Amino acid sequence: MSTKKAVAVIGPGLAAMLFILVRHQLDSVDTGFFIWTGTGLLGCIVTGVSLLAMGWLYRLIFYPLVLLRTPEDVGYITVGGRSKAQAANDVRRRRKIGELPPVYPNGWYRVLDSHMLDRGEVKNVSALGEQLAVFRGQDGKAYVLDGYCPHLGAHLAVGGRVVGNCIECPFHGWHFQGNNGKCVKIPYAEKVPEFAKVRCWPNCEINGQILIWFHCDGEDPQWNVPEQHEITKGEWVYRGRTEHFINAHIEEIPENAADVAHLAHLHTPGILSGVDLRYTNSNTWKFLRHDWKVQWAPESEPNKHCSQMLVKHALTVFGHHWPLLDIHVVARQVGPGVVFLLFNHSFLGRGVIMHCVTPVEPLLQCVSHIIFYQSNIPALVPKFILRAECTQFERDVMIWNNKKYISQPLLVKEDSAILKHRRWFSQFYSENSPRLQYQRDTFDF
Ligand code: FES
Ligand SMILES: [Fe+2]
Repeated sequence: MSTKKAVAVIGPGLAAMLFILVRHQLDSVDTGFFIWTGTGLLGCIVTGVSLLAMGWLYRLIFYPLVLLRTPEDVGYITVGGRSKAQAANDVRRRRKIGELPPVYPNGWYRVLDSHMLDRGEVKNVSALGEQLAVFRGQDGKAYVLDGYCPHLGAHLAVGGRVVGNCIECPFHGWHFQGNNGKCVKIPYAEKVPEFAKVRCWPNCEINGQILIWFHCDGEDPQWNVPEQHEITKGEWVYRGRTEHFINAHIEEIPENAADVAHLAHLHTPGILSGVDLRYTNSNTWKFLRHDWKVQWAPESEPNKHCSQMLVKHALTVFGHHWPLLDIHVVARQVGPGVVFLLFNHSFLGRGVIMHCVTPVEPLLQCVSHIIFYQSNIPALVPKFILRAECTQFERDVMIWNNKKYISQPLLVKEDSAILKHRRWFSQFYSENSPRLQYQRDTFDF
């Protein structure tokens, strides 16, 4: 239960019960029986409320933080009594599409976290404009096949069953192998045709995540997702995740790393100022400020698919700098869809936020932040880091959701890293990379 929900439930509940009790005590002041009942009831209530509070505190201290935003939740301005969903859909319909780069760059993309998929379980995932059936075979391996059965088009992940290392279609019971998509059984047919198969997606499971490889020409993976050994060895443990849906082209999200100037403007107000850009510069919270020093550069061969952003963050309170809270972060981007945000602090410890962007459709990106942190550091520390990162990120979301992609931006000398980033990112497009062909203006959140 979130803090707001807990306060919303406990606060009014407690007030109402106290009100009833006081009235009850006054009404029955001469009656011993009622006084006894009132006291007993008060005890029950106090116990109940204490248990609730303890449960909430236990969750706060020990449970991973899970913050899942719906597509319309963050970054839209609602006016005139319209709902958030209406505001989001209006923006999507009104959006001016600039001259966009291709919409699905070649690379690795996260589809699920490992802990979300049990042995023998199948999940439906929408990614890269496709419907996927992601399942874990009885051998413990994760497999990813196209969602639609080639027989008559039933969705393998909606009612389909894992049998051994195959998925059984819910419609007529055909079996497809996880490792190559071949059909190996048709319950009512004498022979399985050689050509009966479904598309199989190259995948890997690493750092607590399941990822798929996309290449527009079906080429094999051109690099591997690096292993974060501390996660594999169990030294860094899972402490939470966030999920956002962003109404933008995928390239606009990593481009932020090279857009050094936006940090000083968008991310300087303290996190207490919130995420609504209409109010982040209000005077109330001006005493708290973040200062950023950032550098972005591509890596060289053989890691030219990687780039690094070095971030030095300082906190000032009432103009006073707190050096103990200075944080240095290395954000290493690997391909178009995965970033490792590595933290290393003298007493706050070490850990990583995996920042993963997966296009759901051409202008809708699913962004996950998953934090793994030193197991001997109290969970509250990484949970706070993730929450703070999420607050800063949601300010970007408000920009991305409403902006237009400008293919020839009006830049000044100090913005030069943005063009460098565009050149670097263009390596993930090839001649046949899919482009946006039409705008789906009937799709609503
Ligand atoms: S549609 Fe899948 S077996 Fe018929
Ligand atoms: Fe940003």
